[in-house]
Amino acid sequence: MTIRYQTKNLAPWIDDSVLKAMQPQVASACDLLRTKKGPGSDFLGWYDPSTVVPAAELKAIKDAAKRIQEQSPVLVTVGIGGSYLGARAVLEALPFDDASEDGVSVDFAGQHISARDTQLLLESLDDEDDVSINVISKSGTTTEPAIAFRLLKAYMEDRYGKEEAKNRIYATTDAKKGALRKLATEEGYATFTIPDDVGGRFSVLSPVGLLPIAASGHDIDAMLAGAQEAFKTYGASDDVLTNDCLRYAASRVALYRQGKAIEILSVFEPAFHYLVEWWKQLNGESEGKSRTGIFPAGCEFTTDLHSMGQWIQEGQRNAFETFLIEEKPKASVVVPDTGSDLDGLGYLAGRELSEINLQAWKGVSLAHYDGGMPNSSLVVETLDARVLGNLIHFFERATGVSCYLQGVNPFDQPGVEAYKANMFALLGKPGFEAQAKALQARL
Ligand code: PA5
Repeated sequence: MTIRYQTKNLAPWIDDSVLKAMQPQVASACDLLRTKKGPGSDFLGWYDPSTVVPAAELKAIKDAAKRIQEQSPVLVTVGIGGSYLGARAVLEALPFDDASEDGVSVDFAGQHISARDTQLLLESLDDEDDVSINVISKSGTTTEPAIAFRLLKAYMEDRYGKEEAKNRIYATTDAKKGALRKLATEEGYATFTIPDDVGGRFSVLSPVGLLPIAASGHDIDAMLAGAQEAFKTYGASDDVLTNDCLRYAASRVALYRQGKAIEILSVFEPAFHYLVEWWKQLNGESEGKSRTGIFPAGCEFTTDLHSMGQWIQEGQRNAFETFLIEEKPKASVVVPDTGSDLDGLGYLAGRELSEINLQAWKGVSLAHYDGGMPNSSLVVETLDARVLGNLIHFFERATGVSCYLQGVNPFDQPGVEAYKANMFALLGKPGFEAQAKALQARL
């Protein structure tokens, strides 16, 4: 099993009898996913990872990745939310030396409206020998990436001229509809398709994530194979007691029903920062609706033990913790023997940092448990492309099951429109005049 799920520290909140009582609901949630009969079932294209990207598209992704590697040392991807977080999570979590030598470095734009950050990015591009762009947006009208792409398109045309700029711009978007599809067709950019039935936060194993990941030199075949393994492993049975993906999904919902409204995904590896961000979006946007849903939070230990550790140990008991652990990272750093023991750490001399980090996890999980914080751990041996593909599918499937257990559509996000309408009105978008007037009166 690629992922080991350790649940000892969930007792007494969760035991087999709690889970057994949920078995009929779990089986029906699995059935809704499998038979595509649940709410939002038009967006279940991610469910079987082998069917997301047709063979010809996969070859086109690999060819384009090679072309990008020949063109430029840096690829700027433009996107936000589901059109951004998956690729960033993968690229930061995988060890750098897993990528082939010809891989490009990937930069990110379009995930905010910060003038400071955008100016820095544009200035930094002048220091690069060459630049390619991958603009990713299903709709093509999302404000943040659309603004960033306006700027980057102008930058590229200014730097290379219109003809060469268009050879360096790659668009990942809807097959037929949307502003970006139209623009890409007009301009003659190479394009990749976000399948109709795959929503943003479930799209990392589609061209959305695969093109930048392939350009960076990581093994996308291995990622897809890992996801397929997870599809088989966690699709083989609906038994909540033996299927760890279902056990995790059901346990988190059972904890929520006991008043544990926050799930903290805690990692002991800074490289997993964006994996946690991706997971937060996956769960927050999928589950947080109809006035229900677990609030997904994240902590990076041991760093956050010196900030959030106090709350987790002794604060309000309305949360539970899930640790995501890599047992044997591909890195070897040994604590040196300095010949003096003023810091009292001489007993650690000669020991691997990764071993010390593992003991930190074990100590933290028991301390938090003793403080009344239910916790469980998802443990992988060494994170590589295959294992990460497996983990991605594990989390996506668990999210689908959790949402159906809570009676919500996992695949829509109606709540993200409210702020957009206000922002458009305040910025003076035509058609929003009445709303602008009403808002101004409240400011
Ligand atoms: O998960 C989602 O659906 C969202 O986060 C979208 O991916 C995000 O809003 C970006 O949308 P688009 O790809 O249309 O620019």
